[in-house]
Amino acid sequence: MALQRKGGGCERRRFCRRLSHRVVAVLALSLAAAAEAVPGDPLPALSPAHLVWFNEGAAAFSEEYVAEDGLGPIFNDRSCVACHSTPAPGGGSERTVTRFGRSESGNFDPLVSMGGPLLQAQAIDPACVETVPAEANVIVGRLTTPMFGAGLIEAIPDEDIAALADPGDSDGDGISGRLHMVQYPGRPRVGRFGWKSQEATLLSFSSDAMVSEMGLTNALAPGTTAPGGDVALLAACEAIEGRADPEDAVGPEGFTDLVKVTNFARLLAPPTPSVRPTGRGWRLFRRARCETCHVARWNTGSHTVEELAFVRFYPYSDFLLHDMGALGDGIVQGAAAATEMRTAPLWGIGARTRYLHDGRATSLLEAVQAHGGEAAASRARFDALPAVGKRKLLDFVAGR
Ligand code: HEC
Ligand code: HEC
Repeated sequence: MALQRKGGGCERRRFCRRLSHRVVAVLALSLAAAAEAVPGDPLPALSPAHLVWFNEGAAAFSEEYVAEDGLGPIFNDRSCVACHSTPAPGGGSERTVTRFGRSESGNFDPLVSMGGPLLQAQAIDPACVETVPAEANVIVGRLTTPMFGAGLIEAIPDEDIAALADPGDSDGDGISGRLHMVQYPGRPRVGRFGWKSQEATLLSFSSDAMVSEMGLTNALAPGTTAPGGDVALLAACEAIEGRADPEDAVGPEGFTDLVKVTNFARLLAPPTPSVRPTGRGWRLFRRARCETCHVARWNTGSHTVEELAFVRFYPYSDFLLHDMGALGDGIVQGAAAATEMRTAPLWGIGARTRYLHDGRATSLLEAVQAHGGEAAASRARFDALPAVGKRKLLDFVAGR
């Protein structure tokens, strides 16, 4: 292709030879990478029907909503891709959203009647924009998490995550790990998505994202979020009076946007490179006990989408909640306590620029050194490594 674009002109022999070497090198590279998708790609070898799901989902994920589509009255942005953008649609970004609440003598109040726990920083009508109420004394940013490979995480059987939970630290290694059980319509499920493992499925997460980030009521979240929690103000702020909920309607092809964006998230390929648990960096990672929480290898169970069934993958997380001490965000969310956070999956982290739940760390080293609570002993083991060992370990984490 490069040859053609240059007009095919290879008048000078040396130049031609160099060029053909380059072409061979690129070919070899792309062959090596054939098994590894580019960020934003669908899972490899999707059936034609599932590829249609993925493509329709990608379009809905990038769609810019306006008030006529149901956006608002208050929202954080106009499309999913506005936040999930890097390095491709479905990724994360440096974008944070704001959560707040009031913590008083051990009790946490999410200040629902004042618009909590999530701030919607934009509104169709500027007079309706929310602000953080003065009562809030916990105000934290939450970084946008990438969704690459999320369908595989969703397809881990509940009991496999449950098998790793050790709430009472019965093995005495100083690391417990709690399941975040969440009420999924119909039955309790093992949470695994979000900084606090607050959602069990991509459908429920996407439903919440639609209504909380964009103000789009949908089948699983039919109620509009009132500005500042003020229901009386809601009517005044609604851009289109008397609009029926749910706003997310079934399109001509028979799917709601909720179903479409969920399919997109589900069928996204995992991040690359796929970091395998071998070599010197991996041994150091184990020696520092990182893998007690950042569990390397998982398998999906059976699945109605056969491309997601019985797949082995390497996300580096146990999806459990851990008491992280001062690194906790202070927010009580569902059954997750103020100091508890989900072990963040490390796959794909080499392509990111911000780390930890609020994006405070700008290097992997800083991220590790902020580990406290149950991870304090592991961090101390890391700190005790010689400089070259630290570097090898972090290179391994970054997939370098
Ligand atoms: C204003 C920014 C913003 C917009 C818009 C947004 N998100 Fe998110 N998304 C986030 C943040 C921040 C998180 C992490 C939230 C948390 O854990 O509390 C997240 C997390 C997620 C996750 C969980 C990923 C994981 O593996 O934990 C999914 C799924 C998701 N969003 C889907 C969507 C969909 C679908 C849309 C569009 C309907 C959307 N998001 C719109 C900011 C945004
Ligand atoms: C006790 C469990 C535990 C241990 C042990 C542990 N971590 Fe973590 N790790 C976490 C949790 C929980 C988070 C999420 C922190 C947050 O929410 O800000 C995290 C986050 C990270 C992040 C940032 C991820 C992101 O998405 O921003 C990196 C990098 C990381 N850990 C590396 C390591 C390394 C390297 C070790 C070993 C030296 C280690 N961790 C040991 C629980 C653990």
